[in-house]
Amino acid sequence: MLRTTTALAVGLIATATLGWADADENELVVNGEIEITTHAPAPAYVDGLTEIYSGWRFREPDTQLTQMDDFDNPAFLAVDAAQITWDTVEGEAGKSCASCHGDVMESMKGVRATYPKWNETAGEVRTLAMQINDCRTENLKAEPYDYTSGKMTAMEALISVPSRGMPVNVAVDGPVQSTWEQGKEMYYTRYGQLELSCANCHEDNYGNYIRADHLSQGQINGFPVYRLKNTKLNQVQDRFQGCIRDTRAETFSAGSPEFVALELYVASRGNGLGVEAPSVRN
Ligand code: HEC
Ligand code: HEC
Repeated sequence: MLRTTTALAVGLIATATLGWADADENELVVNGEIEITTHAPAPAYVDGLTEIYSGWRFREPDTQLTQMDDFDNPAFLAVDAAQITWDTVEGEAGKSCASCHGDVMESMKGVRATYPKWNETAGEVRTLAMQINDCRTENLKAEPYDYTSGKMTAMEALISVPSRGMPVNVAVDGPVQSTWEQGKEMYYTRYGQLELSCANCHEDNYGNYIRADHLSQGQINGFPVYRLKNTKLNQVQDRFQGCIRDTRAETFSAGSPEFVALELYVASRGNGLGVEAPSVRN
């Protein structure tokens, strides 16, 4: 039985391989003015990689183009909706996000690049989604969003816009270190019937094709991501769940401590790439 599943796991990549193609050489400039770094040296703590690439570099040229102009990028419908939410009073405190934070394009500049990050007051590692919900419940006195809901991804996308082009720069040491270690261990753990780890696909096999899909390094500098496949913005932990399900494993729930740790670790593998969110993928 073990031999069969191992053979299947290997066959998934080997026999379905259409070939191998490195990241392409295209350059990402959004709206003709925001230059985004899609290739950088790997951070020293990533043992298995010397170079890091954004997932954008593995997509088809027409998908790439859709992300290069905000008028073509379908994610901007959600961004516009979230801008209205940002300015609208909601909840029992009679406040809007703007009541405290003013213009999102000014106050949230650089924020997306540093998440997940340590929150001193709460004594916890927070994802951007957790921080948005914390402000909703504590400051607006409103209901939290469902973790991977359309409203959440739209708000994450809006908050990401003023950070586009800035290098991802999440902390890996200090108070986050033990969480980061936990995430790293998960990244190299083989899950499911196929016994595949994140690293088996995104570190050992990026550049290869798997079921006609060009494997990237699974970086998260582009999240939330508008996928042409499901025509909506996708939350990063939703994507983790999809990848784990593909190995035929039980997955963790969105917002769980395990996924917070995994998100921190995966984000750190992209330190140095430019924030792209909201990006476009297939
Ligand atoms: C009553 C004032 C208030 C309101 C209203 C408010 N916030 Fe906040 N927000 C804060 C404070 C204070 C912090 C810093 C919190 C901390 O560090 O623990 C913060 C931090 C944040 C951060 C993290 C910034 C960083 O530099 O890491 C984000 C993102 C955020 N808020 C989003 C929102 C959103 C979205 C809304 C509307 C749903 C909102 N906030 C409403 C007061 C508010
Ligand atoms: C069986 C192979 C496989 C495994 C195992 C796997 N993935 Fe993926 N993953 C894919 C494929 C195929 C895609 C779509 C093509 C691409 O972007 O690489 C993808 C896409 C992604 C993306 C989207 C990248 C982008 O730029 O939009 C992320 C993030 C990701 N994976 C993270 C993970 C994490 C974290 C794990 C481990 C929990 C994991 N994956 C395990 C195959 C895998």
